[in-house]
This record gives sequence, C-alpha cells and structure tokens, in this order.
Amino acid sequence: MTLRPAFLRRKTVLPQPDAASVLNALTSPVLLLDDAGVIQQVNTAVEDLLEMGAAHLVGRRLDALLPPDSPVFALIAQAAETGASVSEHGVTLDSPRTGHRVVTIQVAPLAEIADWIVVSFHEQSLALKIGAQLTHRSSARSVTAMAAILAHEVKNPLSGIRGAAQLLEQSCGPDDRTLTRLICDEADRIVALVDRMEVFTDKRPIDREAVNIHSVLEHVRRVSQAGFARHVRFVETYDPSLPPVFGNRDQLVQVFLNLVKNAAEAVPEEGGEIVLATSFQHSVRLAVQGSSARLHLPLAVAVQDNGPGIPEDLRPHLFDPFVTTKSGGSGLGLALVAKIIDDHGGVIEFDNQPRRTIFRVLLPVVPDRESEP
Ligand SMILES: Nc1ncnc2c1ncn2[C@@H]1O[C@H](COP(=O)(O)OP(=O)(O)OP(=O)(O)O)[C@@H](O)[C@H]1O
Ligand SMILES: [Mg+2]
Repeated sequence: MTLRPAFLRRKTVLPQPDAASVLNALTSPVLLLDDAGVIQQVNTAVEDLLEMGAAHLVGRRLDALLPPDSPVFALIAQAAETGASVSEHGVTLDSPRTGHRVVTIQVAPLAEIADWIVVSFHEQSLALKIGAQLTHRSSARSVTAMAAILAHEVKNPLSGIRGAAQLLEQSCGPDDRTLTRLICDEADRIVALVDRMEVFTDKRPIDREAVNIHSVLEHVRRVSQAGFARHVRFVETYDPSLPPVFGNRDQLVQVFLNLVKNAAEAVPEEGGEIVLATSFQHSVRLAVQGSSARLHLPLAVAVQDNGPGIPEDLRPHLFDPFVTTKSGGSGLGLALVAKIIDDHGGVIEFDNQPRRTIFRVLLPVVPDRESEP
C-alpha cells in the first residue's frame, strides 16, 4: 500500500463552505434579485443597510424598501437591458431606511439564471477615510504655524494696549471709564482666544499611559451634565471588556468634552439625546497610503446626537480651524480634536444621517511590549 503525502490527504477532507456563508463573511451588503425584482437572497450586511432581518427581506420587492427614484433602480434596469455589469461611484442613498450614505453600487447579471441580478453596495473605503484623516492632519499643521504667529504678534501688543487703557482709566471721568473697561475686556477676550490656540504649538510627543476610556467618558458626561448639557438625556452603551487606550487622559477628556459640547449645542431643546458608545473592532486594520504599515485601531468610541446634522457645505472642511456656524463659536473645537487624535495616531470620522450625527474616534490599545523589537 502506498501512503499519499499529507498535503494530498488533507486536500480530500477540505471543508466545502456554502455560498451563503461566504457571502455573510463580506462586510459589503450583497443581495440577489429575481427577474421580477423580488429579493431571493441577502447577506447579513444587507440586514444592517436596510434595517430588517433576512427572513423579512427575502420575498419582498426591493422597490417596496427603497424610494422608487433611488439610483439603484436605474442601474438595475441598465444591467438587465445590456446583460452586462454596471457600477457607479459616489451614489447617494437617501431614505428613512438607509439613512444618508454615499456608496459605490455594482449591479451584475447572474450567469446561471436569465434576468436574475446581484446588487452590491460598497461604503466609502477605509483608504478614503485615511485620506480624509491625512487632510485633517494638514489642518492641524496649518493651525500650528498660525497659532505660533498669533501668540507672538498679537499677545505682546495687546498687553501694551491693555496697560495703556488702565492708565487712562485713572484720570478719566465715569463715562469714559466704560470705554476703557471695554478696551480691557476685549483685550482679555482676544488673549483668551490666543491662549486656546497655543495648545496647537506644542509639538512635544505626548505622555501616554494606559487610560480607561470609560472613566474618561464618565467624567465628561458628569462635567457636561453639570453645565452645558443640563437639558440633554445621556445614553451610555459601553463594552465593559474593552482594554485600555494608549493615550493621554487629560487630552482625551478634552476631545470628548469638545465632541459632547458640539452634540449638546446641536440637539433640540426638547428631547435632546446624546449616545456615548464604545466597542472593540477586531478586524479593523487601516492601510496607510504609500506604506505597507497597517494601523491597528480597534477601540471605537462614538458620540451620537439627534440634532439636525452637519450642514453639507461645512463637511469637507469640518476639522479646519475657524470653521463655525455659531455666533459665539471660535471654530477651534474640532480642529483641536483632530490634532489630539492625530497625536495619538488615531482616526476620527463622522457619519451624518437624519437625526443621527455620529463622530467616531478610533484609537490604539496599549502596545504589547513583548512583541516590540
Ligand atoms: N454634532 C454636531 N451636529 C451638527 N453640527 C456640528 C456638530 N459638531 C460640529 N458641528 C458643526 O461644526 C462646526 C465646527 O465645530 P467646532 O467645534 O470646531 O467649532 P464651534 O463649536 O463652532 O466653536 P467652539 O467649539 O470653538 O465653541 C460647528 O459650528 C457646527 O456647525
Ligand atoms: Mg465646538
């Protein structure tokens, strides 16, 4: 008897996964439509996209789930007509079910059965998100240079102006004294603004340690509820098994305080709600453009509010300094958030859906010292 080599023997017992489990392993939603536009099969990612379980989706017509003018249907019609696959980038899905998302849609006829069609949706890629994060980094850098100039060129003359006003105050009448007070108050306001910017000039590496992110969020919630978020209901959904963040506690408090403050300023007067959520994302490794390195940022912290969302024209520049829609706002809150997250090697992204604005911060865990070179 001849014994077959091990690798040949192993080959004969290879498991044969069915197509459904392969489809379910994909993070992009994929669905199969028959010739009448009825859903015949979905993967689990579709359940999240359409906010409905697979059992309810199969057997329903897609046009009963998405608005009839959705661009998906034009692509399906085109694929059915030409018998070839079509794809379109940057398609906006906007419906109560899907929320507002920009996706790439691919529609392909099924080879085996005539007029059956496979539709897949691909969210903005992680590479693009990283690209966006790199743009935030350049925002952080431009504000660094600006802050250094401001601190130098503005603060010094201001202290001179303030001193002169105080001298005048001693020799002028009560009417003029309101004017000298005004000069002093406005000078103080500008100094406070420049002080806020000075944090951007600090280029030293940050002091990092293992930080319990839940104690950070708990602290932020308490501070907020005692002040600017008194009118808001907080919901906390934390993953208690989360490992510590590798970060600077004070700076992380600053990040989430700024995000919660924005959320509190966005929510309606009545029924305002902020959700703070943490989760662990095993599989998320982000590729860095132009490098083979992979960022492993498994800790996700989300700050979600039920306000009106971020105005469309603001979105491309949201993390730039001085971008604000508020009368008393400085527009430095998110620029500072971007700088601190950048210093931590993390990523911040936002998702804007109707009545659901989410800022999601991805952060690194404490590195495993054993595995370091
Ligand atoms: N959760 C949110 N919902 C809606 N819009 C938001 C949200 N967060 C930020 N924005 C928009 O982004 C702008 C910039 O925010 P940022 O925190 O940088 O500055 P600001 O809040 O205007 O001023 P500051 O933070 O200095 O008080 C805001 O003016 C607002 O228009
Ligand atoms: Mg703000």
